[in-house]
Amino acid sequence: MKTTFGLTLLAAATAVEGHGYATKPSSRTRLGSEAGLDKCPECTILEPVQAWPDLDIAPVGRSGPCGYNARHGIDYNTPGVNWGKNIVATYNPGDFIDVEWCVDHNGDHGGMFAYRICQNQTLVDKLLTPGYIPTNDEKQAAEDCFEAGTLSCTDVSGQHCGYSPDCSPGQPCWRNDWFTCNAFQGGDHRGCQGVDAKPLGSCYTSIAGGYPVTKKIRIPNYSSQHTLLSFKWNSFQTGQIYLSCADIAISGSGTGNPEPNPGNPGGCTPASTVAVTFNELATTSYGQNIKLVGSLSQLGSWNVANAVALSASGYTNSNPLWSTTLNLPAATTFQYKFVRVGSNGQVAWESDPNRSYTVPQTCDGVATVSSSWK
Ligand SMILES: *[C@@H]1O[C@H](CO)[C@@H](O)[C@H](O)[C@H]1NC(C)=O
Ligand SMILES: *[C@@H]1O[C@H](CO)[C@@H](O)[C@H](O)[C@H]1NC(C)=O
Ligand SMILES: *[C@@H]1O[C@H](CO)[C@@H](O)[C@H](O)[C@H]1NC(C)=O
Repeated sequence: MKTTFGLTLLAAATAVEGHGYATKPSSRTRLGSEAGLDKCPECTILEPVQAWPDLDIAPVGRSGPCGYNARHGIDYNTPGVNWGKNIVATYNPGDFIDVEWCVDHNGDHGGMFAYRICQNQTLVDKLLTPGYIPTNDEKQAAEDCFEAGTLSCTDVSGQHCGYSPDCSPGQPCWRNDWFTCNAFQGGDHRGCQGVDAKPLGSCYTSIAGGYPVTKKIRIPNYSSQHTLLSFKWNSFQTGQIYLSCADIAISGSGTGNPEPNPGNPGGCTPASTVAVTFNELATTSYGQNIKLVGSLSQLGSWNVANAVALSASGYTNSNPLWSTTLNLPAATTFQYKFVRVGSNGQVAWESDPNRSYTVPQTCDGVATVSSSWK
């Protein structure tokens, strides 16, 4: 997720609580929490930093690639009594594995997350040595290596990658608020369950309860008897970065396991109905509404009188977000456009061509379509 572009980040560190940490495989942070040492695992935060839009500019400093919980003075870059000495999972090169992180209900700040593996044992060993606290330089060298080892979403065929480290600045999927509980302060919490559709508290956070965010990643063609899987979440809303690491081994011949069922990672039964969230960035003035109209009967069959109204509950001047979630049959292809309806009923259509979308066949039954008024 290497990128640089010329905006100045104005986000200040705020007093917003909340946040997240990696949970599967068990991160050091999770183990610290389960041991009762870390009372706020989701509070392992690198701050204040520039987290956005240049995802790589912030030096990791004391936080390192595995995180430092300043509230409890816990440095997860060195093995502790309850983490870092034993590996928590062993994989084969080429394996497709399930990973999960937990985002707190009270403070998911949008942005971009990634999983990383550093393929330089010398650098990782600094973080594996009991009793040794790596220097900030050693933490940074490891971090740079983890950045170079960012795992691609599209390596997992069939995975929905509408938001991922594969995205580039300017693409709709780049700035994500797809997992945002408060939809950037919209207040209706509608985004919270949109990721895995799991109930609040399905994973542990100390503040307001957590929602899991699951993905699949592909283990690279690399072997190590003890290495680290690092999780990094660059917040969009706040000048904060969340880092955690899990101790893993990668063994085996390097040929990799075949993907269990190509196009259907994990071998799940694809959901027949998918909750598709449409996020449209459209600047409007008071009294105007954005609606969705298209070829499906659920989309009004191109009749604006029957169009679906979007909600502006997440709308801000800097992020003019209109959104709605519709349950649509999987594998259905349709055409659509957004329309802007004035208070006097006057309708403005988006420019041609029509938008087209095919509802994906996903395991989790959710998908997000992000776009901007055209
Ligand atoms: C690993 O990192 C060390 C320390 O920076 C460096 O000397 C070495 O060349 C690196 N090894 C590889 C294979 O890149
Ligand atoms: C993985 O690397 C090994 C050693 O370089 C090589 O022999 C093998 O073909 C590679 N496998 C894949 C799937 O790239
Ligand atoms: C968009 O779809 C409508 C309804 O089918 C159709 O009348 C119109 O010609 C399409 N626009 C373009 C540019 O294809």
